[in-house]
Amino acid sequence: MNRRHFLQITGFSFAASSALWSCQTSSRQRCTSDGTPIAKYRRERDQSLRLACIGVGGRGLDSMMELLAECDGPNPQFVEVRALCDVDLGMLDAAATRIPSAKRYRDFRLLYRDIQSGAIEIDAILISTPDHTHAFATAMALACGLPVYCEKPLTHTVAEARTIAAMTRTAEVPTQMGTQIHAGNNYRTVVELIRSGAIGEVSFADCWDKRSWCCGKLTPGAIVPATLDWDLWQGPTLASAYIKDVTPGNWRRYWKYGSGTLGDMACHILDLPFWALGLAEERGLRAEIRADGPALDDVGCPASLEVSWALTWPSRPKGKDPLILRWFDGGQISPTAQELAAKDKQDYSRFSTLFQGSKGFLLANYNEYLILPGALAATVTPPTPTLTRPAGHHLEWINAVRAWTMDLPTNSAMTGSNFEYASRLTELVLCGAVAYRSQAPITYDFDSGVISAANAKRATELMTAPCRDGWTLNPTDLFFDPTRFQIR
Ligand SMILES: NC(=O)c1ccc[n+]([C@@H]2O[C@H](COP(=O)([O-])OP(=O)(O)OC[C@H]3O[C@@H](n4cnc5c(N)ncnc54)[C@H](O)[C@@H]3O)[C@@H](O)[C@H]2O)c1
Repeated sequence: MNRRHFLQITGFSFAASSALWSCQTSSRQRCTSDGTPIAKYRRERDQSLRLACIGVGGRGLDSMMELLAECDGPNPQFVEVRALCDVDLGMLDAAATRIPSAKRYRDFRLLYRDIQSGAIEIDAILISTPDHTHAFATAMALACGLPVYCEKPLTHTVAEARTIAAMTRTAEVPTQMGTQIHAGNNYRTVVELIRSGAIGEVSFADCWDKRSWCCGKLTPGAIVPATLDWDLWQGPTLASAYIKDVTPGNWRRYWKYGSGTLGDMACHILDLPFWALGLAEERGLRAEIRADGPALDDVGCPASLEVSWALTWPSRPKGKDPLILRWFDGGQISPTAQELAAKDKQDYSRFSTLFQGSKGFLLANYNEYLILPGALAATVTPPTPTLTRPAGHHLEWINAVRAWTMDLPTNSAMTGSNFEYASRLTELVLCGAVAYRSQAPITYDFDSGVISAANAKRATELMTAPCRDGWTLNPTDLFFDPTRFQIR
């Protein structure tokens, strides 16, 4: 791996234009603007990795505790949570009861300001905020040259996913999207089975989730809870009146902050066919995407959604039909899985993925798989494992971070859901929402990020989200100018 580091300091001036610059070093060290090392950054084997957690309610608290538990295993990795950040004081205080020594922040921009100035020393960042802030909190970490673990979906828009992928290539730090099932044994076995040809050549895969994160409504006159900083919670989105109970959790029901059940679950579930069929690696990949659901609401996400991706790429033999992926949510399950269940007089509703191959079918969920028909299953033995079996998704990332901080050889393959992989999966998923919201089929070119569609103008608009003044993902303007913000 090319050790071009992207560590920087603003000299505490906050001048946006001079905020970012890189310094090349043989070991990791923070540098002043003239390149002078200001602190020894390389970590020794027995020193703790110092972690900052952004978003520490809900999944954030669970993720932090899972990380600490995984690191406490047979080969312990010493991790110290140095900073906790949450815009809701109730969540922040609750998390602080677990880690009383951690410094507390409400605004992640102030955390990054302290990291840049050296006021706090942090080796890696764990992000579990709602989707609309993922890209912004992640971009600042990458610009600080820090490894990041960010929840799924990696970003809220297609354009943000591409920007984060580009920044990750520059930063060259260990990254992981929070799709923890990716590290599990069952997904890895299924990937090996599909790749070994256990069900023959795969022509389509269906994925489904019964949840229905839908129907968000505006609630004029709602009172902001006393512990919540609503302005900070809105982050980069255009400021609007508080919506009753939008947080915690219900932001998923609104296009402005989430993408319904598709945004919530598809990165976990479509991950399996996306991985098994090698779609992250295909160059020249194109998808014709169609989406169907109830009448479009500009505010709330639909009660159910069906999306199909017809995928082609140059190395696919000429004349071959596109590979089809389909997604069903809001109580729907794959019609093909239903037909199989009816034929076999079985209940297959516990599964969430169905592969159809030239020899048979494979049903899977997070923990189990089933090959059909039974006569085919009887001939299949799981192939010799070719994929590693990490002890945990967080630990896989922590091990990569540890190696990186010690200048040991590292590469993106050390983490399965690294941002190169995760950004493409996120693009695929979020293009489904673009097709639905633009109310017309779209064709997406994964290499260029260009959409072609009958309604191309609207579809292209929907690849981004309107951004509040002062919030940007432009690397040269990332660090905020205090004259444009009220700093609390
Ligand atoms: N991997 C998984 O299994 C899994 C499970 C649940 C949620 N998630 C993901 O985790 C993320 C959070 O989901 P959740 O259900 O915990 O949501 P939530 O609303 O319950 O919690 C989000 C937390 O982030 C805080 N927050 C909001 N904006 C913030 C900001 N700008 N800075 C700091 N803190 C901020 C909130 O106050 C809250 O404590 C989402 O991206 C979601 O998709 C992943």
